Amino acid sequence: MTVILGLESSCDDSAAALVTSDRQILAQAVVGQNSAHQPFGGVVPEIAARAHVEVLPGLIRQVLDEAGLRIGQVDAVAATAGPGLIGGVMVGLLAGKGLALASGKPLVAVNHLEGHALSPRLTEPDLAFPYLLLLASGGHCQLLEVRGVGDYRRLATTIDDAAGEAFDKAAKLLDLGYPGGPAIEALAAEGDPRAVPLPRPLVGSKEPHFSFAGLKSAVQRAVAAGTHRPADIAASFQQAVVDSLVDRTARALDSSDAPTLVVAGGVAANGAIRAALKDLAATRGRGFAVPPGWLCTDNAAMIAWAGAERFAAGLTDALDVPARARWPLDASADAVRGAGVKA
Ligand code: KG4
Ligand code: ZN
Repeated sequence: MTVILGLESSCDDSAAALVTSDRQILAQAVVGQNSAHQPFGGVVPEIAARAHVEVLPGLIRQVLDEAGLRIGQVDAVAATAGPGLIGGVMVGLLAGKGLALASGKPLVAVNHLEGHALSPRLTEPDLAFPYLLLLASGGHCQLLEVRGVGDYRRLATTIDDAAGEAFDKAAKLLDLGYPGGPAIEALAAEGDPRAVPLPRPLVGSKEPHFSFAGLKSAVQRAVAAGTHRPADIAASFQQAVVDSLVDRTARALDSSDAPTLVVAGGVAANGAIRAALKDLAATRGRGFAVPPGWLCTDNAAMIAWAGAERFAAGLTDALDVPARARWPLDASADAVRGAGVKA
């Protein structure tokens, strides 16, 4: 049994966790920065990086104390090395390097997306490779075949916004604050999902790619029209995202014989999305797994777990490993027309 310290700082959550190779979470702590970014309606990179500098060391102290461990008793230090907001990534990665250097323990540089991708295996011991993964977060919306640790085949990505980004933008238009996902989900519960006609971009298209920019513009027009209840707009928007995720994922299932469908990333915390994809898996005769909500949104337990999986496979990193703003899980995947700057 090995113990891995995980550190996460790639966006607006500072997090530390201690996880064992036999899936015990010894301690974990997450501090978000919602109030710091709220006035701007989105994450301000420099504010985020400065907050990680202030918060992360205390979280590391806290999880070690809670688990009753000294740094010399962990087997490896895993830190997110990208992709993400580069200032924040550098803060957490350098903290991990410093701990590894001082304790003489190996460093595992973890791809944040691999953290999300492997997260369901932390809570589902029976989830075997391969599985088809819908990874939907604030920065990404991808369908990937997860074949093993470090072995990913990307089937689709978004040609414009990520699903979580769409939730955040729609919430901003409705004055619901940041982050938008939970706020939209709460308001949608009081609305009629059929009240406002909204588009389902790319639904029915051959490749399983995603698009959400047109949906955002339609929400903007619906808000501007001033004739709809905000709850109806929220519910109709959420339904459009659900329909789009289900249609695109169904298309990917056509070209993958992976026995299990898995959903991860912050957007997978959404109850309507979880339920719809569970139904899809059942209809297609596939198994289904989704991590608990706290493991869907950014956290360090998933980084520690990905670190544990990589460490077990002998994959450790030198202390000169770089921080990377962009770092695709499948480097061989073709660029998608219209995909802009998103990985
Ligand atoms: O995985 P995550 O915490 O950070 C990234 O790696 O991006 O995902 C954050 C995203 C945000 O866009 C947030 O609005 C969305 O996940 N999100 C949700 C929900 N909770 C978080 N979207 C829809 N419904 C939710 N309940
Ligand atoms: Zn994330």
